[in-house]
Amino acid sequence: MTGDEYVLDTPVVREFIAGVRATIAAAGSPAEACDAIRPRFATLLADPGWLPARYQEGDPGSGMGGGIGQWLLFRAGDRSLTLFALVVPPGSQTPIHDHLAWGLVGLYRGTQDEEIYAQPEGGALQRVEARALAPGDFYALLPPRDDIHRVRTTSPETSVSLHLLTNDTGCVWRHAFDEGTGRASPFRSGYVNVDCEA
Ligand SMILES: [Fe+2]
Repeated sequence: MTGDEYVLDTPVVREFIAGVRATIAAAGSPAEACDAIRPRFATLLADPGWLPARYQEGDPGSGMGGGIGQWLLFRAGDRSLTLFALVVPPGSQTPIHDHLAWGLVGLYRGTQDEEIYAQPEGGALQRVEARALAPGDFYALLPPRDDIHRVRTTSPETSVSLHLLTNDTGCVWRHAFDEGTGRASPFRSGYVNVDCEA
């Protein structure tokens, strides 16, 4: 096992991760942990200076299509926690996908529309919620609730969202869904800047 990877190794990131880890260790449940992390996450979303421009650029060779870039910023040695930036160019949207881990997701730059789906009994997808996100907006993912979604950039500028999730989201095999049939296919998004082991 490799150690912790601070791909973006700055005091802001180190302090944020240390705070998150202490909070998770003290929390009695994922929901409680998410609640307790909220102020820290809001502060990170509101700080315009800590995320270098290169992590706010799309990826023409994207594994997700649409020039979408997923930049790893931090990954725990045991792969139980990651912080990454998801960059979605104007007019692009992600596939409908799941995450298979709890955590927080929030918008840093630009605007997005998010559609959330439920899949009762593994059948057809039902769109249960649609919401417009502005910078600073964020929400908790607590699977299976709200774990399946799609995001689309609605701003003329690229959107950047921050994901703090309790798995190695870019490297685990998760699912992309066909909107019409609800059929799930194996999906691994990868990261622009870090390889997944084979
Ligand atoms: Fe997502």
